[in-house]
Amino acid sequence: METIDTIQEMRRFLAGRDGLVALVPTMGYLHEGHASLMREARRRADTVVASVFVNPIQFGVGEDLESYPRDLERDRLIAGEAGADVIFAPTVAEMYPQGYQSFVNVEGITGRLCGASRPGHFRGVTTVVTKLLNIVQPGIALFGMKDFQQLAVIRTMVADLNMNVEIVGMPIVREPDGLALSSRNARLDDAQRKSALCLSRALFAAKEAFSRGERSAATLSALALAPIGAEVEAQVDYLELCDSATLEPVTTADEKTLLALAVKIGTVRLIDNCILGEE
Ligand code: PAF
Repeated sequence: METIDTIQEMRRFLAGRDGLVALVPTMGYLHEGHASLMREARRRADTVVASVFVNPIQFGVGEDLESYPRDLERDRLIAGEAGADVIFAPTVAEMYPQGYQSFVNVEGITGRLCGASRPGHFRGVTTVVTKLLNIVQPGIALFGMKDFQQLAVIRTMVADLNMNVEIVGMPIVREPDGLALSSRNARLDDAQRKSALCLSRALFAAKEAFSRGERSAATLSALALAPIGAEVEAQVDYLELCDSATLEPVTTADEKTLLALAVKIGTVRLIDNCILGEE
């Protein structure tokens, strides 16, 4: 499988191929969640491009840009096995050359949840995703639902800016004990890995109460917060019940209500979510 690091080479590679192109944008340190996106891309498209780029402009000051795990050799193996045809792994200078000054900003839906605690994050995401879509010009692009708000922001951008691409959202992949797969899990030590289970426990506690008929968002939030409060290393960034279409907070939950949370385990910030009425 080829690895390409320039935009010109990427365009040359794609110019020689017919049929539907799928793009799976990633920041690398691939795991089974990414692999599931690539397998679905393989199923649907003739050419599968996986991008691996740790995008500096979506990290804020003091966030984990430097410590974000990276291993391109390992990524090549995982992507190849999952059916990618090529990895596009540009350098920062290739994506943001000197004099770079253009950004894409989605308003409204980026103001809450991760957007509230990470100002500028989604501007970085929508900018790099726009650039990747312009470079690869795929018919479909696949994203994981663990970043629920990211998926909603990208869908909004694609609709608002009439971008000619279908956005496909794929289910969260979890470890057998419930932990949602994330590249950042690699930064947890053994004790923190155990503490991190409080995120999925929070979701399951709220889902269980919802299935028994509880509809008060305040009560469901309190039940979800309990397992997190029990972990000394865990610090809640946000935990919210929201409308899954608008991401606006709700006071009464229904089948489609999203429970979204971000929790810091030591210095590692993890996110997770569920739709209360879904299996
Ligand atoms: O979800 C991610 O890994 C990143 O935010 C993305 C979409 C690849 C943009 O850098």
